[in-house]
Amino acid sequence: MKLSIVQYTPTFGEKQENFRRLHAHSERIDADLIVFPELCTTGYFFQSKEESRFYAETPDGETVDFFRAMATKHNAMVVAGFAEKDGDNVYNSALILAPNTPTRIYRKTHLFYKERHCFDDGDTGFFVVPHHRLDARIGTMICYDWRFPESARTLGLKGADIIACPSNLVTNVWHIAMPARALENKVYVAVPNRAGEEIRGAEDERVKFTGRSVIYSYNGSELAKAGEEADEILTVEIDPIATRDKSFNALNDIFRDRRPELYK
Ligand code: ACM
Repeated sequence: MKLSIVQYTPTFGEKQENFRRLHAHSERIDADLIVFPELCTTGYFFQSKEESRFYAETPDGETVDFFRAMATKHNAMVVAGFAEKDGDNVYNSALILAPNTPTRIYRKTHLFYKERHCFDDGDTGFFVVPHHRLDARIGTMICYDWRFPESARTLGLKGADIIACPSNLVTNVWHIAMPARALENKVYVAVPNRAGEEIRGAEDERVKFTGRSVIYSYNGSELAKAGEEADEILTVEIDPIATRDKSFNALNDIFRDRRPELYK
């Protein structure tokens, strides 16, 4: 199975321009699963819920149409971050799309910094989606969810082979923790981050995104890594079935050895 992640730098608020550049990147990809960053069609640093709602879309909007066309053309599963509107609510979401399958949407559980002013708390919880034509199970979390080991653990326990983590990371500390999420759950972890910066708001607040997107193997090792600044496509061959045996010697199995009765 081929997995690609796309490090991509959106232009804030310029959806059509972002579609155009995302499409150009996708034309260079040949993969079974393609993962894009958080909020990749709108940009990140919204200043209010009014503003995020202005750019947000329902699942019948052009963003889902755009990524569905991509999934169909590539006969691939696509995971991509977008701003989702549902009634009065706005979510920092990721869509999980495959040809001829219903659209699935994960809503970010743990909101970071000013996202609290711009989005509602995600309410979907963590879930796993089977690949539409390969024996592979994909779980999704978004960026700051990484700080909560429960996110990846829940996906691991629900049977994920691969965790897709669309991101807009602003530090480098995640390079310590994300590989641990892979190792402790014995799953692949795909982290497409974005690069660039956004300067927004009355006080010209600047957020700098740190690039260095990574695909981790289930032993925590880096299979591919991007640089800090440029848009980049990383593609690796993975073996999802290899993640399912959670033993690492004759007597230990990381899921069977758990003692949940003592974790309360
Ligand atoms: C983040 O959750 N975008 C840092």
